[in-house]
Amino acid sequence: MLVVHGKPVVKTPTMERVDALAVTGGSHLHGSVRVTGAKNSVLKLMSASLLAQGTTVLSEVPAILDVEIMAELLRRLGCQVNHDLSAGTVTIEVPEVLEHRADYDLVRKMRASICVLGPLLARCGQVDVALPGGDNIGSRGLDMHIEGLQRLGAQVRSEHGYLIATGAELHGAQVWLDFPSVGATETVLMTAVTASGTTVIDNAAREPEIVDICTMLTAMGAHIEGIGTATVTVHGVPELKPVRHRTVSDRIVVGTWAVAAAITGGDVVIENAHAAHLEIALDKLVTAGADIDAGSDCIRVRMDKRPKAVDIVTLPYPGFPTDLQPQFIALNAIAEGAALVTENLFEARFRFVQELARLGADVRTDGHHALVRGRARLSSAPVEATDIRAGAGLVLAGLVAEGTTTVYGAAHIDRGYAGFVEQLQALGALVERV
Ligand code: EPU
Repeated sequence: MLVVHGKPVVKTPTMERVDALAVTGGSHLHGSVRVTGAKNSVLKLMSASLLAQGTTVLSEVPAILDVEIMAELLRRLGCQVNHDLSAGTVTIEVPEVLEHRADYDLVRKMRASICVLGPLLARCGQVDVALPGGDNIGSRGLDMHIEGLQRLGAQVRSEHGYLIATGAELHGAQVWLDFPSVGATETVLMTAVTASGTTVIDNAAREPEIVDICTMLTAMGAHIEGIGTATVTVHGVPELKPVRHRTVSDRIVVGTWAVAAAITGGDVVIENAHAAHLEIALDKLVTAGADIDAGSDCIRVRMDKRPKAVDIVTLPYPGFPTDLQPQFIALNAIAEGAALVTENLFEARFRFVQELARLGADVRTDGHHALVRGRARLSSAPVEATDIRAGAGLVLAGLVAEGTTTVYGAAHIDRGYAGFVEQLQALGALVERV
């Protein structure tokens, strides 16, 4: 709310910035598209740079809003950050002495800001990070992050909306995660790399983005064993050095393009794509009727018929990724047959099906299950994206709906997909910003 001279000001519609995409259905996507580095890796790599004084250079950095927010956060911590959009690099100059506070105005814009927790505690002996609160895809607790830090010897408390962790002498420990949380694994990893002694993380997350950060930390001088497995062992070292690192390709963006090709009956070559990071999702597309050719760093997806419905169960990697669930619900919405979709990570991710229903999709949800009965056609309507992946799912549905679908809340999509509109246009889609 705006407050002028102590009086609240009611916002009129003209004061709101409208950000929406107009998507006209009916095109078959054709051509090639190149994917850059993963959002969910690069944000953590930027945070990991804090562990070493000096200049870190990251490449394959996507031109997305979340990278800008993370760059701003690092600047406030005392770093100089230069994001070269044309080169796709971020250069981070990390000073000897860092600030140790991540303010609410940034954390509320991007929950991933909490990934500075571990590095700042390791470097400064104290960190104050605003609590992110709930978001559009569920409550998303921090209990495993907190318990992990406590096991490594930190004192953690919450005060005035901030999580405050202190600990000048961190030590290695055995950490059992109740669930293979991506964020908690990263927090413990980034804290343990310079703690004294050995840390063993059991039930660690195994996502390609975890492997990516472990690869960067190893290049920085960290001693990590069991990378990419459920048991990761970290032998602490006194200090790390800055490095140059290439960000792993964004498997969720790759998966989104693969579904875009399949849903529109198109033929798309996705470059800088690693099929090994997406095995279950690609196998589901084959079951749906797509032809898939995977090369060493590209994937071609072709579809020449109406897709068949495919059941989905989201799980931590190597299970089916929750971040592709809305896109596959969109595919099932126009498929032949019915599919059962089970969401095991984020309870509120099904909110988007109410928007999909506005396009005529037949989806019923019950707890963490959704039953999607495929319809031969969808029809355009105005819809609202509530998060990044819901936005992608709605655009994909718009590509096959009759007429022009307006997807409001396009800023969500910009948080995760670099140049999405331009790339869709290059593949022949009728999409524009309004
Ligand atoms: N959880 C807890 N306590 C914790 C940590 C997690 O209860 O201490 C719960 C969460 O509430 C959730 C589940 O565990 O139900 C999974 O959370 P996880 O920590 O694995 O996810 P995250 O680190 O918060 C990252 C990605 C998400 C992606 C998930 C799962 C980033 C910035 N975000 O979130 O990406 O869905 O892993 O793969 O890396 C997106 O890109 O659209 C997105 C939401």
